[in-house]
Amino acid sequence: MRLNLPITQQEREIDAYASIVCQTDIKGCITYVNPAFVAISGFTEQELLGAPQNIVRHPDMPEVVFGDMWNTLRSGLPWSGLVKNRCKNGDFYWVRTNVTPTWERGVCSGYMAVCTWASRADIDAADKAYCKLEKEYARISAQRGKADPLRRSMPAAILLVARAAADMARSMMRAVPAGQPG
Ligand SMILES: Cc1cc2nc3c(=O)[nH]c(=O)nc-3n(C[C@H](O)[C@H](O)[C@H](O)COP(=O)(O)O)c2cc1C
Repeated sequence: MRLNLPITQQEREIDAYASIVCQTDIKGCITYVNPAFVAISGFTEQELLGAPQNIVRHPDMPEVVFGDMWNTLRSGLPWSGLVKNRCKNGDFYWVRTNVTPTWERGVCSGYMAVCTWASRADIDAADKAYCKLEKEYARISAQRGKADPLRRSMPAAILLVARAAADMARSMMRAVPAGQPG
């Protein structure tokens, strides 16, 4: 797991109509970024091209989320979820990430991600669910005394539970009219 530091608590807002696009080869190394990706990440195009996609990994993101992403992509399916990314200077931004394998004559030639704006309610729900996941893994790992292997082998079912919790939190937030106590 790549640990990108330092981080700040400064969030960068995504334009509501922005599409942040990148393409990678089959190993996840960047082959294309659009100007919106360069602008939000703070890296230059030269720094991004050829770099592994985890150049924007934020340390708050649970490893299991990316495990689920890669398992999904490697089984030939698209993946969608909320991702917190780190800018070059340590600031962060949340995006709704839609990533899919790309195909050439039936063979996977790489991956393409289109990331867009996410609502504050969805960000808050994902943030809570990811914090909970990290705490739970830390607790179980401490009990078993072998953090890394356990984190890597954690079944995707746990992530599904986290997603269900996030969905539930979202629908609860929508059910409460603005300005009223929950
Ligand atoms: C097309 C594509 C887009 C990706 N976008 C992101 C992203 O925006 N942020 C991120 O942290 N990882 C992204 N990933 C996943 C990274 O390849 C990597 O698995 C993740 O950053 C975890 O890094 P680690 O192996 O150092 O833990 C993307 C992967 C692909 C194939």
